[in-house]
Amino acid sequence: MASHFRSAEQQGAVDDELMQFVPSDAAPQAPTASADDTGELFSSDAVASASSTEMPEAVHVVTAAEPAVESADQPAPESVYSSLSNDEAPAVSRTGTPTVSFKNVSLIYPAQPNKPALDDVSLDIYPGEFVFVVGHSGSGKSSLLRLITRELKASSGQVIVAGQDLTKMRNKKVPYLRRQIGTVYQDFKLLPDKTVYENVAFALECIGKPRSVVKAQVPEVLRLVGLAERMNHFPDQLSGGEQQRVSVARAMVNRPPLLVCDEPTGNLDPAISLGIMKLLDLINRNGTTVIMATHDREMVDSMRKRVIALEAGHVVRDQERGGYGYYGAL
Ligand SMILES: Nc1ncnc2c1ncn2[C@@H]1O[C@H](COP(=O)(O)OP(=O)(O)OP(=O)(O)O)[C@@H](O)[C@H]1O
Ligand SMILES: [Mg+2]
Repeated sequence: MASHFRSAEQQGAVDDELMQFVPSDAAPQAPTASADDTGELFSSDAVASASSTEMPEAVHVVTAAEPAVESADQPAPESVYSSLSNDEAPAVSRTGTPTVSFKNVSLIYPAQPNKPALDDVSLDIYPGEFVFVVGHSGSGKSSLLRLITRELKASSGQVIVAGQDLTKMRNKKVPYLRRQIGTVYQDFKLLPDKTVYENVAFALECIGKPRSVVKAQVPEVLRLVGLAERMNHFPDQLSGGEQQRVSVARAMVNRPPLLVCDEPTGNLDPAISLGIMKLLDLINRNGTTVIMATHDREMVDSMRKRVIALEAGHVVRDQERGGYGYYGAL
């Protein structure tokens, strides 16, 4: 299955590379509250500039009331996410077998039989891509993601993930599919009575990984997300950004080739979101395909990744290196 998730160049070396990619000082040595959240593990100037003491001038928060039309004579203000622009991202070859393929997919919830949540959606997402899914509230973003994880089954059409038709997949095979897909949600979904270590370990224990693997991989992934020193804390002792980093660690600990994120920064302010996006960008640059639903206009406009826009269940735009576009009030 894995070969459908990553390109040939990315295959193989990825697991080791992901860890090598982390600077040796990845674990926060002397963190401040803001530096810890903004991804101190990434020692770029841009991250440094995102510390809370310097943020107010740097961050441009777009409000719903503000016109979102890009104006030629008004250059866009420097964004906290600028450092994540796609310029140096490795090129993705959009050939071969897509990681995710929707063929004329419609989804009708029984409670709304006359209003399809998704209507005749066709798209292909290739190994190594980073794709934003944008659109109004209710446009179908979460529904699209939940079809990929087989939390939902299409009413018609085909959803093919890693070469397997999920509309025909037997329920007993779904857990095996899910082992290949990490998921990150807006509300973190951490277990409150487990420590950071235990939350991440639980993901491996659930799929029957031996203790030796758990003991090796959990500290490693927590180092990657900069939480090595918080292993024994409980979720309610962490900031929102730290909690989300735990959930990214949990999603990645099994090193799945596909990461599906539903508004992972929806509850976080821009400085904290930057740390999470740095992490997702790093994971993507090491070969993991990332599909992310978001309302964060500034992030999408800065990162210039592929953008798939939905409106009332239809794909209305599919743009390489796209921007957020205008969706009025969110
Ligand atoms: N369980 C459900 N039962 C019935 N209708 C649903 C259900 N879940 C979602 N819908 C409907 O499906 C459509 C798409 O919803 P979805 O949650 O996918 O939108 P979304 O783009 O993720 O919105 P948001 O940005 O608010 O998260 C909406 O009209 C919604 O009301
Ligand atoms: Mg949603």
